[in-house]
Amino acid sequence: MKKLLTRFLSSNILNPVEMAGANARYHLSQWPVGCAPKPNLSGNRNEASSSGSPSGDESRFKRSRQVGNDYHLPVLLEEVTHYLAPQRDNLYLDATLGGGGHSEQLLRVGAKVIGLDQDPAALSFARARLGDYRDSFGAIQGNFRDFGDILETIGIRGLDGVLLDLGISSRQVDDADRGFSFNKPGPLDMRMDPDAEVTAAELVNSCDEAELARVFYHYGEERASYKIARGIVERRQAKPFQCTTDLAQFVESLIPRRGRIHPATRVFQALRIAVNNELRALEEALAEVPRWLRPGGRLVVISFHSLEDRIVKSYLKRCSQSQLDRPEWPAPKENPEHFFKLVMQKGLTPSPEEIKGNPRARSARLRVAERLEGAVS
Ligand SMILES: C[S@@+](CC[C@H](N)C(=O)[O-])C[C@H]1O[C@@H](n2cnc3c(N)ncnc32)[C@H](O)[C@@H]1O
Repeated sequence: MKKLLTRFLSSNILNPVEMAGANARYHLSQWPVGCAPKPNLSGNRNEASSSGSPSGDESRFKRSRQVGNDYHLPVLLEEVTHYLAPQRDNLYLDATLGGGGHSEQLLRVGAKVIGLDQDPAALSFARARLGDYRDSFGAIQGNFRDFGDILETIGIRGLDGVLLDLGISSRQVDDADRGFSFNKPGPLDMRMDPDAEVTAAELVNSCDEAELARVFYHYGEERASYKIARGIVERRQAKPFQCTTDLAQFVESLIPRRGRIHPATRVFQALRIAVNNELRALEEALAEVPRWLRPGGRLVVISFHSLEDRIVKSYLKRCSQSQLDRPEWPAPKENPEHFFKLVMQKGLTPSPEEIKGNPRARSARLRVAERLEGAVS
């Protein structure tokens, strides 16, 4: 276990980005029969229309939306639709399918959608919900960091839009057995992909003090990271941590509660990010987008905490500058990564009405960029 954790931490945490490659892991068995490189999902702009909205049946859409909202209320739904501006028969990648709320909005106007999620439970739910769109929708289990390999394997050549709605769904938080919530007793798991290598319990019970402190500090921005790490390492010798509420109460015993925020919030965020290697997966997915997005196609990203947003913001800033300059250079140079035009300078946040109806939307921030002319492989 020690060896596994050392490998996991050194390869996954706080290391520079590598492109997804031969080791990319995904499950094409989840790709529905009949949706594999079928012409209507090839993503060719000129191809003839095939299906579109199934029947224009509003009441069926409303019914499906209610069922879906039970799973997860999509955040900034109208804004995502507005900025992706889906067109009939164009092809979109919903890289965080979840309950399929955003995808449904795209499918409704006759667009085609490939939905990706690393959580098989999300895929089953979204497939059932979006069953009426089976000619224009396909769902695949996989990590979005590998989306380029996945699209290549199924014969896709380009995309008209990409959506990343980061983090976890309400269903994942609310299901105590997944171990994401510090309010409900459950196994200290936190894996979005149940086959992933390492659980939160394994990190908490096996990492050394410095590694744990690093995780809490970098991924939770927790100022008391060393105090918490030291406390955990001492306590686990007598009784390892297996249960979410056990860990939450232990952290609360070390860090007094200030205001309404539970003292374990940052520790849980940090562990979740580490277990799912979320920041690195985001960096790798963003780096792959320019290769797939057709000119005029848009990248829409919703982030839920400052670490994610910082990555998105700095990536988009870097790739929207036509020229680069450094004091040591005699003159500015052309930016080889000038892929995007920013559609908005600042991120967009949900309206007070949306936050009232869905408090989980409160920390959301949406950013949009449009692919400039240039070769798409
Ligand atoms: C906020 S939810 C998306 C909700 C969705 N937009 C909807 O309308 O229901 C995020 C989803 O992305 C998935 N996810 C997060 N990181 C992922 C990754 N690296 N690769 C694939 N799926 C990921 C989670 O499992 C979760 O189902």
